[in-house]
Amino acid sequence: MSSYITDLLEEHHGEKFALHENYLNTQMVRVLKAIGYDRVYARARGPYLYDEKGNEYLDLLSGFGVFAIGRNHPTVVRALMDVLQSELPDLVQMDVSLLSGLLAEQILKTTPGELGKLFFCNSGAEAVEAAIKFSRYTTQREKIVFCEHGFHGLTLGALSLNGEKVFRDGFGPLLPQCLPVPFNDLRSLENALRNKDVAAFIVEPIQGKGVNLPTDEYLPQAARLCRQYGTLFVADEIQTGIGRTGKFWAIEHWGVEPDMILMAKALSGGFIPLGAVAMKKFIMNAVFNRMDRAVVHGSTFSKNNMAMAAGLATLKVIEEERLVENAARMGDAITGDLRALIDRFEFFQEVRSKGLMIALEFGAPRSFSLKAAWNLLETANKGLFSQMITIPLFKNHRILSQVAGHGMNVVKFLPPLVVSEKDRTWIVSALAGVIADCHKVPGAVWELGKTLTGHALKTKAG
Ligand SMILES: Cc1ncc(COP(=O)(O)O)c(C=O)c1O
Repeated sequence: MSSYITDLLEEHHGEKFALHENYLNTQMVRVLKAIGYDRVYARARGPYLYDEKGNEYLDLLSGFGVFAIGRNHPTVVRALMDVLQSELPDLVQMDVSLLSGLLAEQILKTTPGELGKLFFCNSGAEAVEAAIKFSRYTTQREKIVFCEHGFHGLTLGALSLNGEKVFRDGFGPLLPQCLPVPFNDLRSLENALRNKDVAAFIVEPIQGKGVNLPTDEYLPQAARLCRQYGTLFVADEIQTGIGRTGKFWAIEHWGVEPDMILMAKALSGGFIPLGAVAMKKFIMNAVFNRMDRAVVHGSTFSKNNMAMAAGLATLKVIEEERLVENAARMGDAITGDLRALIDRFEFFQEVRSKGLMIALEFGAPRSFSLKAAWNLLETANKGLFSQMITIPLFKNHRILSQVAGHGMNVVKFLPPLVVSEKDRTWIVSALAGVIADCHKVPGAVWELGKTLTGHALKTKAG
């Protein structure tokens, strides 16, 4: 089939890295080339990517979590084609659309407690921005409390809820009145809320950076403290939501009923940017409290028909294919297999997971020769060892994964919720192979370590 885009893709085949080097983020291209990730993918389906030679890659990154239902799901493709072919009137603006009403109704059916209203936007960070504004307006308080090591996006408001120097430095001043508290520390939270001047406590039920799990009491008690001090409890489920952890919403694991749930990423099957805030009715009613304030917050493209149709089709797929149940089952199975490897390998210390949000923590080995190699690497750059896992997983076993955050030896897997027994075997045998290779000093993996150390030292030197 010949068309403008397919012709363009053919004509400019092989030019993507040069184009990005010239016109987009040059540093991204340098990184990809330095670590050997400069592949040319030709096709994608379900949990797999295919390169030009037809090699199959298992994608445990899922586009940072957007492809929960797998890539290019035919049900969503069909829904999007239906919208285009129907010539629907979209974004009339002085109107309200049917599809957005239907999607809001479907989403609210999944939420716990009394969340009765929905606000649509275009990304996770926009959902966070809305939560900041809505909670300030509703409570008439300025302060927002967030957790250390949390991640809520990179726009200025969302960045103000992120303690990481690497993200913040040079972009300030950020929002005042945003206070960090340690995750899993109820006493610090209570101290922060005690003066009854905090609008919202915004928290990821499981922290994405590092995959830090809450204690069983943390979220229920945090919600109780919020109620006690008149603070809104906002669950940022942008990464943990929509089945990822083996329940539709991660907070359901702890029976928590928040005042708002923030969502994005997987909501549209990975096709169209889409975010949303589910909230108790009194919050929506407080912000949009008069006719002259009917458009007091919003954005032009939110509620567009393509995003709404993709959202509706995605929810249908999740239900029909029982993907939440699959995430719970496969998550338990993969975690069990991975935990069984810990005793075999000195570097491998812990597996933390809920459903298909899985972290592997690596740490200093006991034996002398391995420890010397480990120390050399860690001195050059803390957290470099985790790349000695992710890079060989990719190069030798065609598994795409990620390091779970800066300066930590934690590798994270966020597989599509459609992963199967075949993928489970692939993951476990590949990981066992890669960790076994790390125990061979000297060896190919440590050669890679030397190269990474070289890059790290060069970067430090400027
Ligand atoms: C928990 C959490 N909140 C917010 C965001 C920001 O979402 P977006 O990248 O769509 O702005 C992310 C993105 O990774 C996230 O994981």
